[in-house]
This record gives sequence, C-alpha cells and structure tokens, in this order.
Amino acid sequence: MDTKILEQHFTQHFGSCEGGAVYMAPGRVNLIGEHTDYNGGFVFPGAVQQGIMAVVRPNGSGQVRLWAMDLQKGCTFDIDNAEGPKETHFRYVYGVVREMLEKGVMVKGFDAVYAGDVPLGAGMSSSAALESCFAYALNDLFAGGLDRMTMARVGQATEHKYVGTMCGIMDQFISMHGREGSLVRLDCRSGEFEYFPWHPKGYRLVLVNSCVKHELVGSPYNDRRRSCERVAQLAGVETLRDCTWEMLDGLTSQISGEDYLRARYVLGEYDRVMAVCDALQRDDYETVGQQMYLTHEGLSKDYEVSCEEIDFLVEVARSCGVTGSRIMGGGFGGCTINLVKDECHDQFVAEVQRSYKERFGVECKIIPVVIGEGARKLKVEN
Ligand code: GLA
Repeated sequence: MDTKILEQHFTQHFGSCEGGAVYMAPGRVNLIGEHTDYNGGFVFPGAVQQGIMAVVRPNGSGQVRLWAMDLQKGCTFDIDNAEGPKETHFRYVYGVVREMLEKGVMVKGFDAVYAGDVPLGAGMSSSAALESCFAYALNDLFAGGLDRMTMARVGQATEHKYVGTMCGIMDQFISMHGREGSLVRLDCRSGEFEYFPWHPKGYRLVLVNSCVKHELVGSPYNDRRRSCERVAQLAGVETLRDCTWEMLDGLTSQISGEDYLRARYVLGEYDRVMAVCDALQRDDYETVGQQMYLTHEGLSKDYEVSCEEIDFLVEVARSCGVTGSRIMGGGFGGCTINLVKDECHDQFVAEVQRSYKERFGVECKIIPVVIGEGARKLKVEN
C-alpha cells in the first residue's frame, strides 16, 4: 500500500498533511486453533503484510472527521456523542475512541483518512486491523501510554459493545503483537504468548479466497459462542478449556445434540493445537497438515461454520496433494489456508482456479502469505 495516495486524499479533504502521522495495522492468518480464543484455548496466528493504513492528525476540536478511501465515504461525529454513527463501518472507529476514553486516554478531535489492502470479509480480520490501527494511532498521538495487550482489548471491546460481534481476542492480539517471520502461540486463558519463527523449508502458506463474503456482525458466530458457554456452565467450568472429554460425555443427556457437536469440536481443536506444537518441534509438516484437514472437518461438520464453496476448495486441495487445508477465521465464507509443498504449488494454484471457476462461475483469489509486523507508526508528516 502506498502512503502517497493516502496523503493526497488527506490533503484534498483537510487542507494539508502537515503535522499528521501515518499508522498501519495488519490483518492475520491463523495456522490452527479456530474458535478456541473465546473458549480460553490456544491460537496460532501470524500478522500478514496487508492491513489498514491511516493518516491521522489532531484537529484541536471535539470532533472526529473521517474519510474512508475504500468506501469513498466520510463521517463526522462529536467525541462526547453517546450514540455515535449508525453505519457499522464507522462504528469501529467510534468504538475505539470511546474505549480509549474509558481507559483514561485523553482523546481529542482528529482528522483521518484511511484505506486497506486486506480484503474485506475474507476472514483475514480487516475489522481488527481497522481497530488496531486507530487504537495505536490515538494512543501515540494523545500519549495514552497503553500497552499492546490493552490496546488489543480496546479493539475487542469495540466489537462487543459497538458492533455486536462477541469475538475472542485473537485478531486484535495478533494485529498488535505480530512479528515479521514469526507465528505466535497465544494462550487465551492466561494471556501468555510465545513467538515461533516460521520458515518451513520446502513448504509455504497460501490463502485461497472463495470471495464468498463472510459477515460476522449479527451472525451465527455469536450462537456458536453461546453454545460453548452453555456447555461450560453445565460442566461447572469457566470455559471449555477446562472441560475434559469425560465431563463432556457425562453431559450428553442434559445438552442438545447441537451443543454437544460444538463442544466436541472445541475439545478436539485443543488436542489438535497441541499436536501441531509438538510436530513443529520436529519440523514435521505432514502432521501439521493432517491436523489442519481434521480441523476443517470439525469446523464443517461439528461447528458448522463452513459453506459449499469452502468445502469444495478444501477437497480440491486434498486432491492436488496439498499438505494441509482448512477454512480460516470465523467462517461462513472467506479464505482457506493451505500448507503447500513448493513442488506442488503451481499445479495446485492452476487447478483450484480452473475448477472453482468451472463449478461456481466466479474466480477465487490466490493470496501468498508473508508474515509481517504488528501495528506501528510509519512516518510523521512535516
Ligand atoms: C473471528 C474472531 C476471533 C476468532 C475467530 C475464530 O476471527 O474475531 O476472535 O474467534 O473468528 O477462530
């Protein structure tokens, strides 16, 4: 993404760029550990190079003036307005402003122009990138002194309170903590995390975007979370992280078949993440890939967050000898993440593009994964 175009638009809307600063926060991939974050489990994400970039400058008033380049739309709101904008897209920024204030950061009025190159609705966390970009910028411009985890929580609270998605912490966490060339294993119960250099010799990660837009807002995502919470409550534990297979089996007569399947997926995913961590110690990527396919099966059949197009993409991957493939992120569309052997890559890409077009009449998009840095300031305008 080019800062120049952003600066031109800023000048067009707000006179000049002088005194502004440019910030960036990335989207993410997740190797394994899906729908585990709000269950107190482990996730294994990495930041990507794509994300949201913003030019931001305090304007000395009590107003926030935004221009979203990708939407070709603007929005103005007063910081002390208790309602905020109606349009969901702008509520992400509004929510961040309000949550920063809650955390004691003295946010004042500002002007901002922003744009992104992380595809919207592709399951790569474009909304977390937006939240993290503004949380980071406002913390910097208004000397908030918040640490990265607290800023991640600002983004998560924005989703909960201003948008209505009861998400976990994975996306905002990694957008804030990403490190070039490393995946991160986060224990979502304790908040502890560890960087794992990701240089799988002979393999690479490739996303295939089905271009089926996933929309988590007001979606069955929240229903999945509620199912897990019901089971955890009956099991007498805080989250499913502390529910054993024996405890779950003891509950079958008290829970619906659907809730059982949801919990079964989550418990299984905990085991799969552990198996992957173990396999990574030995550079055993075949096992990593097998676990990815198993995760997909669970997400598709038990958690029911896949769709026909994505299941098709995973099957094509399997038939091309791809080492691992699964739906990534919240689900209901978006991308598959594929662990592909170098020698298999070109044939897989050609075949998945051809067969997807033939089957669904639309193009899928291939996105090579390069693991990048977390939220940061890119430059200061003079
Ligand atoms: C979305 C949410 C995350 C996480 C994933 C599924 O991306 O924002 O918190 O729950 O879905 O792993």
